[in-house]
Amino acid sequence: AVLGLDLGTSGLKGVILDERGQKLADARAGYPLRVPQPGWTEQDPRDWAKALREVLEALTSRLPQVEVVAIGLSGQMHGAVFLDREGEPILPAPLWNDQRTVEEARWIEEVIPRPELIRRTGNPAITGFQLPKIVWLKRKHPDLFRRVYKVLLPKDYLGFLLTGNWATEYSDASGTGAMAIRERLWDEELLRALGLAVSLLPDLGESHRVVGGLRPEWARAVGLRAGTPVVAGAGDNAAAAIGLGVSRYRPGTGSVSLGTSGVIFLPLEAPLPDPEGRIHLFCHADGAYHLLGVTLSAAGSLEWLRRIFPEVSLEELLGEAEKVPLGAQGLYFLPFLAGERSPYLEPALRGAWLGLSLVHERGHLVRAVLEGVALSLGVVYEVMRSLSQAEAFLVTGGGSASSLWLSLLGGALQVPLYRVVGEEGAARGAAILAMVGGGVYPDLEAALAATRLPEVAVTEVNPGVRQLLPGYEAWASILLERYRRS
Ligand code: XUL
Repeated sequence: AVLGLDLGTSGLKGVILDERGQKLADARAGYPLRVPQPGWTEQDPRDWAKALREVLEALTSRLPQVEVVAIGLSGQMHGAVFLDREGEPILPAPLWNDQRTVEEARWIEEVIPRPELIRRTGNPAITGFQLPKIVWLKRKHPDLFRRVYKVLLPKDYLGFLLTGNWATEYSDASGTGAMAIRERLWDEELLRALGLAVSLLPDLGESHRVVGGLRPEWARAVGLRAGTPVVAGAGDNAAAAIGLGVSRYRPGTGSVSLGTSGVIFLPLEAPLPDPEGRIHLFCHADGAYHLLGVTLSAAGSLEWLRRIFPEVSLEELLGEAEKVPLGAQGLYFLPFLAGERSPYLEPALRGAWLGLSLVHERGHLVRAVLEGVALSLGVVYEVMRSLSQAEAFLVTGGGSASSLWLSLLGGALQVPLYRVVGEEGAARGAAILAMVGGGVYPDLEAALAATRLPEVAVTEVNPGVRQLLPGYEAWASILLERYRRS
């Protein structure tokens, strides 16, 4: 069996899978998110270490007889774990959604103009990425920065704890903003221009490679064999894609997740960035690349709506939305509750209902939210489509439980949707990468073929949603202009 870990934003999840990808056990441990100032989000890497121990102990105590042949890692991307020479965290780790580095991101683009940065790294300077965080520490806290020996990505800190080695892999590294995406190397020239030494960053290599063996003290504490191979793994989006079988071995099939944020993931053979940087280009964990579009508030918008109407259940709200005609009688919802990433890269952007009139009732507000999120993903795919076309999308995430939402999404994307049967997620993908590194299968293609989950086609699709796209985009550009100006 293999073990996969996913270091999420609310907790660490671990699974043990058999060789066919069937789940034998899972476990979870949570930790707090700290918001010390508006726009800042951070976690204490020591809390992650505690959760790691709890999850591993829970898994091995549930399955004392099973032999774990490899451990794979995945987790939230973009965060910065600043460590001293002994591997002790120097400060809490700012996370992927932390917005403290607006100035630093702007400065990076003064040093390296945006078009060149996109050509070299695949992306513009994005506040949430790791590189602006390193620049931030150096500029704002030079005393702390002098103590930094290495900066790791969140899941790679788990790898360091388990093996004692400083290592990362291409998928997560391409989300730092400091990797030359074609060469698959740290961009030393870029780092030098920003006054940073490449030695701050860990060893870089393939996602399925073994980065070390489990240290004896961890093995003893959690009941695993010392020396168990630990596999580098992948950032959570790439790992979740591997968990679904979305890779270069199935070209044209992407995934859409209707989670708190909405994510479109599309594999790509060559490193083709959007020249305007409206969607992300990252390395996939399969040796190739992928595009990623993120609507920051997807199911998050519906959760917010539920909070402001506590008197009714979610089912009732969705029922009311069902009765409202397509287009919500002229009402649009722009889901920028927490700023936006794709295709409008603007942290300061905020959401709105637009086109309100006296006919509108609560059901219209709900309907507009569902349509607005579907349209937002539709606009993201419009940008993606110029680089790579999808023939099918596998849909996942809490929001995919609503057939109304799926029919709107299918209409907005105009690509056939399939629901995956069985448990998906990044921990599963990490475990599949561990199967490759641990030698269970000779390569990723074989591992994916052996672990593929059944899929069911989504048959109810509302093609009329497309007609709402121009109206949606017109409102979005008005908001964008207003918030960029202020
Ligand atoms: C991707 C991103 C998020 C995090 C969350 O660019 O920021 O999906 O990986 O875990």
